[in-house]
Amino acid sequence: MGHVVLDTDLQTQTTKNELAVSFRKAVEWTPSAVLINPLDKFNFVRPIMHWYYQRKMNIYIERVLDERFENRDASDMNTAGKSKRKPAIDVALQEYAELTGNPNQKPDGAFKGMVIDQMKTFLFAGHDTSSTTMSYIYYLLEQHPEKLKKLQNELDDVFGTDITRTANLLMEDPNLINKLPYCLAVIKGKIIKSYSILL
Ligand code: HEM
Repeated sequence: MGHVVLDTDLQTQTTKNELAVSFRKAVEWTPSAVLINPLDKFNFVRPIMHWYYQRKMNIYIERVLDERFENRDASDMNTAGKSKRKPAIDVALQEYAELTGNPNQKPDGAFKGMVIDQMKTFLFAGHDTSSTTMSYIYYLLEQHPEKLKKLQNELDDVFGTDITRTANLLMEDPNLINKLPYCLAVIKGKIIKSYSILL
């Protein structure tokens, strides 16, 4: 999600990324919808910790936003809407350039505040859903080895058997992703919990 939203490699698999750690902590300190322990209501540390981790996330995303604005190429601001890759952060900066009619206008506090909240929403809404869906797909494919084989055959047909080349092939031709009807059906099937594609 770091790539999709902030065009940043958060390296969460190999490092303790400040944004990812604060994110998880903020979720941990978020009161659950159903209070199991009524005393939880009186946990006065909770709002302080929640505020603390929210603030850490805001500072991190604001820094990324400022760097993105400083390192932007003004012509990018006019074309970002047209380029294939649209990290949410570029779409937001392009939106501001269009709103102000000046690609060199530094985003003001109100706009930054709104963008930071949107970026957090995307990070939240996109990471748990995607990882849960992937884990569930792996679980079901493990249960259906013949379907896993069918999926692997499709992937091998499109990308070849040398997986180290897959990322480069996709960079060279992103449309290859549209040549995987079975893979797409497996993903969609999972999401709507219809086993039809696997039975
Ligand atoms: C397999 C992955 C995903 C699933 C199953 C999923 C599912 C959903 C569902 C069911 C909702 C509606 C929630 C509701 O109305 O209460 C929703 C909303 C949303 N999702 Fe996803 N989502 C996925 C991935 C993503 C990703 C990758 C992003 C961001 C890049 C994202 C961003 C959002 C946002 C921003 C909303 C709120 C939309 C609104 O209220 O206007 N989702 N998602």
